[in-house]
Amino acid sequence: MTTAGEVTAWLLPTGGLSDATIAGWRPLLDEAEQARADRFVFDRHRRTFIAAHALLRIRLAAACGVPPEVLRFEPGPHGKPTAWIGEVPAPLSFNLSHTEGLVGLALTPIPGRALGFDVEALDRRVTLDVADRYFRPEEVGWLHALPTASQAEGFLRLWTLKEAFIKATGDGLACDLASFWFEPLLPRVHFTPALPERPEDWWFAQRLARGFVAAVGLRTGGAEAAVRWVEVERL
Ligand SMILES: CC(C)(COP(=O)(O)OP(=O)(O)OC[C@H]1O[C@@H](n2cnc3c(N)ncnc32)[C@H](O)[C@@H]1OP(=O)(O)O)[C@@H](O)C(=O)NCCC(=O)NCCS
Repeated sequence: MTTAGEVTAWLLPTGGLSDATIAGWRPLLDEAEQARADRFVFDRHRRTFIAAHALLRIRLAAACGVPPEVLRFEPGPHGKPTAWIGEVPAPLSFNLSHTEGLVGLALTPIPGRALGFDVEALDRRVTLDVADRYFRPEEVGWLHALPTASQAEGFLRLWTLKEAFIKATGDGLACDLASFWFEPLLPRVHFTPALPERPEDWWFAQRLARGFVAAVGLRTGGAEAAVRWVEVERL
């Protein structure tokens, strides 16, 4: 018997947030998070960070039925954080992503799941050199076959899917980006023999809206999965 993977993905645009809103969210962060926020050189990066971590604490706390301040986060071997309530793992899996103008959070109500999430702005400057150098030939071929006007979007589709995978496993860039590849429009993953994963164990979804692209990936072990996209203006 398999269990369905239910993922909720919140998307919070940050472009229109006022200084007062950001200032109101800052106390939700713990001391170490506030210190990290203060170290950003550029104000827009600090605002994005505060919005992302306020979103994270508020949604996780609501899902666990605890106040936001009792949550603490522990980084894994490559930095992927897990959430804890005291010495007990929070009963969920999550992944956070931020980009210029948008922060996002994916959450599934089962602990210990490989869940990855990535958001990017569609107007971000891209060059196909990165794909040519680091992606699989199948992906490079797909990209170069697109009309020139669609290549930047195609690249960001691939990029967010690949990020969703390496963030789901938690390996980040310790994972060779050419050890797996995507058919982005389905979206479907494939693995080379270098990576001991089975495509049927993985589920991905992607959304393009309001100038952003988002991708979510979950190791389901073959179970069904679905994502509920929630666009929010406030927390
Ligand atoms: C962390 C990483 C996995 C993603 O970074 P990113 O795309 O710059 O950042 P995102 O905003 O999507 O995600 C950052 C968040 O992911 C989480 N995170 C950190 N390390 C992580 C890891 N190893 N795995 C999963 N999530 C991780 C954290 O919550 C972090 O937020 P925080 O720093 O505010 O606490 C990073 O290792 C990485 O891949 N950076 C390079 C980007 C790149 O060149 N990608 C090639 C794309 S194909």
